[in-house]
Amino acid sequence: MAARVLVVDRSAATRDAVAELLGARAEVAWVAPADAAAQLRAHAYDAILLDADPPPTSALVRELGATGARVVLIAAADGPALAHACGAADAVARPFAAAELVLRVAQYAAGPAPAAPAPPDKRRPRKSDVIIGTGPWVKALYDRIAMVAVTDATVAISGESGTGKELVARTIHNSSPRVDAPFVVVNCAAIPEALLEDELFGHVRGAFTDATRDREGLLAAAHTGTLFLDEIGELPLALQAKLLRVLQNHEFRRLGEDTDRRVDVRIITATNRDLEQLVAAGAFRQDLYYRVHVFPLHLPPLRDRPDDVPLLVHHFVTKYRARLGKPIEAVSPAALARLAGYAFPGNVRELENKLQQAMVVAAGSIVEADDLSLPAPAAAHVDLSRPFRDLKQEAIDAFERAYLTELIRVHQGNLAAAARAAGMDRKNLWALAVRHGLR
Ligand SMILES: Nc1ncnc2c1ncn2[C@@H]1O[C@H](COP(=O)(O)OP(=O)(O)O)[C@@H](O)[C@H]1O
Ligand SMILES: [Mg+2]
Repeated sequence: MAARVLVVDRSAATRDAVAELLGARAEVAWVAPADAAAQLRAHAYDAILLDADPPPTSALVRELGATGARVVLIAAADGPALAHACGAADAVARPFAAAELVLRVAQYAAGPAPAAPAPPDKRRPRKSDVIIGTGPWVKALYDRIAMVAVTDATVAISGESGTGKELVARTIHNSSPRVDAPFVVVNCAAIPEALLEDELFGHVRGAFTDATRDREGLLAAAHTGTLFLDEIGELPLALQAKLLRVLQNHEFRRLGEDTDRRVDVRIITATNRDLEQLVAAGAFRQDLYYRVHVFPLHLPPLRDRPDDVPLLVHHFVTKYRARLGKPIEAVSPAALARLAGYAFPGNVRELENKLQQAMVVAAGSIVEADDLSLPAPAAAHVDLSRPFRDLKQEAIDAFERAYLTELIRVHQGNLAAAARAAGMDRKNLWALAVRHGLR
């Protein structure tokens, strides 16, 4: 069955480009952004390709996704980060590549879009939600998850982007007595400050000019369930005070209302920032920090647990071969070696993406090293008389320097834009640039 794809873009020519690349795999329709809502009332689509210039709001993405379609951004650069930020399922780069379009879009004709059968927040545990890993860290993680899941304690998950924070949060919810109630995700960094209060706490009719009716808010939507506050470090101070009240008294107020409401939610937070540093800088309330840090969980970056790479590779091959309908059996030893030699700044998310792409381009039943869009390791002379640690540090330094030089060049010295594109904290990027003498 051909996938039904809707292109939402200012230019109708985009439709033709997409249709040509997808061929018989998809029926492609086009609509200008302003008419998207009307079009969606009249027709159902498996996937929506949404132009990300300007970046869409998470409200819009949610609205489009609510039709059951998989929402995929069209982005020039920075696609995955942008998609993650606004809640889209995925992103494709422009100019388009046929393989990527098939992977991100056309494969969804085979089954209903992930969001279709039930709202994602009510999702039951799925097999693919399993946390893969080996060694003491996963065992300890599972132990701690089991320990905390049965309680209502607030959990604070830290770790770099792509290390599995959301996966762990879901696992806790799914192993908790709240499993049949909603799991609601709020990305504090993705929602503009002015809208976040309304998103979280809701409002009553008349609270502001456009408030023509009451709005529940995501906190209330998570009642009896779990609220996952992603990127908690980005929560504005005014909202930190409101959140503190929720944690202390289980109370909050909607915008424009003068009575308190009670709510029963379990809160899980995540951050890739150093909250203690934010507290020291006055950007994060100390009292909230203590309330949030009742039960911390830290997820190590993938480069610190190289033994997990083969297991994750196997896991993702199994996961995507069915979706892609390709009889891929394995990853060649050379490809595995290439994966093992890469530092994965985007952690497991990046490994998953790279592998998915490689599976699309693989010609036979084995993913070869050349199918991977990873830099081939320099055929460097290895000086075995020197300690491994030193050599590794030199390689990392060289990578960081090369990466930063290129990143800063591409963004013409605009550190904010560079940090966003790299998925790094601006301060960390700055510190790293200074360390490498790149000012
Ligand atoms: N240990 C793991 N085992 C299996 N999949 C993982 C693991 N860690 C991360 N993933 C997958 O990697 C992707 C990114 O994980 P996510 O939880 O969104 O990371 P974060 O919230 O830390 O940015 C998801 O598809 C997730 O399922
Ligand atoms: Mg995340």
